[in-house]
Amino acid sequence: MARLKCAVLISGRGSNLKALIEACADAAFPAEIVVVISNVPGAGGLAYAEAAGIATRVIDHKKFAGREPFEARLTDALADAGAELVCLAGFMRLLTPGFVERWQGRLINIHPSLLPAYPGLDTHARAIADGAKEAGCTVHYVVAEMDAGPIILQARVPVEPGDTPETLAARVLVTEHRIYPEAVRMIAEGRSQPLPGGKVFR
Ligand code: GRF
Repeated sequence: MARLKCAVLISGRGSNLKALIEACADAAFPAEIVVVISNVPGAGGLAYAEAAGIATRVIDHKKFAGREPFEARLTDALADAGAELVCLAGFMRLLTPGFVERWQGRLINIHPSLLPAYPGLDTHARAIADGAKEAGCTVHYVVAEMDAGPIILQARVPVEPGDTPETLAARVLVTEHRIYPEAVRMIAEGRSQPLPGGKVFR
């Protein structure tokens, strides 16, 4: 069976991209990465893609007059690569409702909290400040409202006494690297329910 063609969008370090690349390196994995796109020139994650022989594109949002022209270029790059699923992996640009609607059910994100708790930034610091006993991460479909889309998969980790945002982030990150490939597998195998209007994969 043909593998699901994924694009991965990054802005930085790319450790989740690395986890996806490693999963896709197994010929039995039902998805492949056809392009990695960064909006930040020199983003660390680009090196993982290059080392794996995956096509990379840099589309620097600062070179565009606004979100729409930036996203038009993004759309062209995704079409050129034949992407069927778009995976945001530390991609730090908000996407317009128009872009999100066009990719409805085919656009996913990983977020370092147990959504719906702690959407947005600084999730770990906020969880610690609240005295939360549990933290985790979520892979979800992207909808226009930030971090609010249907959940595909979550993983829980304990918040340990003395945790700092950094130690908690590191514990959560280990689970991110496990569930992001697993969520992509679920979608590729048709075991995840996309949004109405979204394409049902296989
Ligand atoms: C991860 O914590 C992810 O959940 C969040 O941004 C971070 C990206 O890390 N959306 P990396 O670039 O994948 O290492």
